[in-house]
Amino acid sequence: MLRGGPFLGGEVAARSAQTVARFVEHWARHGWGVWAVRERPGGAFVGQCGLNTVDELGEVEVLYALARATWGRGLATEAASAALAYGFDVVGLRRIIALAFPHNLRSRRVMEKLGMRHDGFVTVWGIEAVCYALDVATFRARPPA
Ligand SMILES: CC(C)(COP(=O)(O)OP(=O)(O)OC[C@H]1O[C@@H](n2cnc3c(N)ncnc32)[C@H](O)[C@@H]1OP(=O)(O)O)[C@@H](O)C(=O)NCCC(=O)NCCS
Repeated sequence: MLRGGPFLGGEVAARSAQTVARFVEHWARHGWGVWAVRERPGGAFVGQCGLNTVDELGEVEVLYALARATWGRGLATEAASAALAYGFDVVGLRRIIALAFPHNLRSRRVMEKLGMRHDGFVTVWGIEAVCYALDVATFRARPPA
């Protein structure tokens, strides 16, 4: 999930740099992490999606954030679905969660479309978040999209 914001003015560049540094460090440590999302066709960069360890919870989350102009076309669901498949099939994870501010209904809808189930509320990074979860057995039992 996004750790706060929206950020304004000079803060935007600094927060973005921190986030990218965190993602790069995660790739170096684990060999997997968060990808850039590019549009087809054309390859324009439109956002981020991938897998991220949440040390505070001892879990791995799927996360996504896309440019506003692309919302509502199913891109987040498509990207996050690929990230879940990578997590279960390639990384070998047994369970993946997703976190959101409870009022972020658009993000929660993506989680539901991914077949994730409401798993209660947690406090993480000082934020009260709603948690959804998917285990590998349920993922494998999903009907094909
Ligand atoms: C959350 C986000 C990634 C969704 O991206 P997206 O590409 O629009 O997602 P999808 O098109 O795959 O699915 C969106 C779904 O939410 C639904 N939706 C949109 N607004 C909604 C609302 N206010 N309440 C409930 N559902 C809503 C859409 O109708 C769609 O569901 P449907 O396919 O059943 O119609 C995008 O809005 C975003 O980047 N937001 C800012 C960053 C963010 O909040 N990231 C998540 C942090 S937890």
